[in-house]
Amino acid sequence: MKLAFWRPEYETGFKPVDEQHKHLFDIINRLHNAMSEGHGNDVLKETLDELIQYTVEHFSMEEKLMREYEYPGYEEHKGVHDQLTKQVKDIAQKFENGERFVTVELSHFLTKWLIHHIKGQDQKMIRFFRENHVFDKEGTLV
Ligand SMILES: [Fe+2]
Repeated sequence: MKLAFWRPEYETGFKPVDEQHKHLFDIINRLHNAMSEGHGNDVLKETLDELIQYTVEHFSMEEKLMREYEYPGYEEHKGVHDQLTKQVKDIAQKFENGERFVTVELSHFLTKWLIHHIKGQDQKMIRFFRENHVFDKEGTLV
């Protein structure tokens, strides 16, 4: 069953970011399925690793653009990214060490976090990108 449903209101209008956000929803759904359907630890570990890797890539892309265009909220936004990355890496590490089980609470937490982040910090950043012509009307990077 799907957990993270994409809604039009999450759309920022900047295509690369929207596509990456949708992809993150997709990984969270796969992680959620792996847990709720009781898949083995190897599948969970693989999906968690994929989530971490893709999240790091996605955050780096946003951060690179924020630096390039001297976004005034950079430090704050990066701080939020770093905190989430650390949290998820810690969970994955503990899971690998057998110190912790990963449950559906994690996928619920990630879904809430992502939606909150998109509707808050990301929309704010995208507004700045739009005003500074980082992307055109089609939503493509200029
Ligand atoms: Fe972000």
